[in-house]
Amino acid sequence: MNLNDAIQECWSKIDEGQVATYIPALAKVDPYQLGVYLFDVTNDKKAEAGASQVRFAIESVSKVITLLYAIERLGLSAVEEQVGTRQTGFPFDTILNMEITKETHPLNAFINSGAILISSLIEEQDGLSPFDQILEFSRKICNDPAITLNEEIYQSELRTGDMNRSLAYYLKAKEVLTNDVTLSLDTYFKQCSMMVTCQSLANLGAVLANDGIAPWNNERIISSEAATYTKSVMMTTGLYNESGTYSVRIGVPTKSGVGGGLVSASPNHYGIGIFSPALDHAGNSVAGLALLELISKKLKLDVFRY
Ligand code: DON
Repeated sequence: MNLNDAIQECWSKIDEGQVATYIPALAKVDPYQLGVYLFDVTNDKKAEAGASQVRFAIESVSKVITLLYAIERLGLSAVEEQVGTRQTGFPFDTILNMEITKETHPLNAFINSGAILISSLIEEQDGLSPFDQILEFSRKICNDPAITLNEEIYQSELRTGDMNRSLAYYLKAKEVLTNDVTLSLDTYFKQCSMMVTCQSLANLGAVLANDGIAPWNNERIISSEAATYTKSVMMTTGLYNESGTYSVRIGVPTKSGVGGGLVSASPNHYGIGIFSPALDHAGNSVAGLALLELISKKLKLDVFRY
């Protein structure tokens, strides 16, 4: 498959979306960018095209990394006690499910309330703050030592993060979030402000696709159990309330971020990283998802079909 042709084919989709404006630093990003990096884990082959090496804010894709790190640190059952595995049917910053149902915990790890709760579980260790540990783990699982925090985006998240603060304080009031709220929010804002490329996300996807083993050096980074759990949750909630639609159209576990990033893990086949900053109404990259759909069809990646 020619990736440059695929990018050309999806380019006009950019006009159907808009860059995230609720975080001012993201509003300044040029929407006319589309990049892809493919990591074929069975044949150890890589391919890339377009804006594949441009750095962008990882945003909600970081929730995958933090979830994996929390599972490694605390064990899957401890994490499963904190968050469910269900879609909410509401936007990613919803609090509604806990208000209108008898649920005491966030419905999944990828809505903001669930992700903040997961970040709160990571405690200082060996003098490293929770964020320092997440950064170190991100560099390892993305095989990208150049991942750093973007101070401008972090400050922008801090200034406009009141909805996230309300979610965290709500969880504290309900005695669900029991660690320091300010520190938990700070960890969350910082993890969202890490700068990655399509290549970093393809490497993350490749570890997930390869059952937790890094295909670049055969080191096991996460347990098979953590990889399986996370891929399943990506499939059911990774694209928020659009997850069902894309499960049918694409059929590959995927997680989005409002920076325009997508990470996909096609089990035993590919890790895929995609970037295009114009988003649909649910906060998912429009051209990115069109490109992923094309790639999934061309490479026959749909887990329900092949
Ligand atoms: O907390 C927020 O709203 C952002 N920092 C991240 C949200 C996000 O990426 C949702 N994903 N599509």
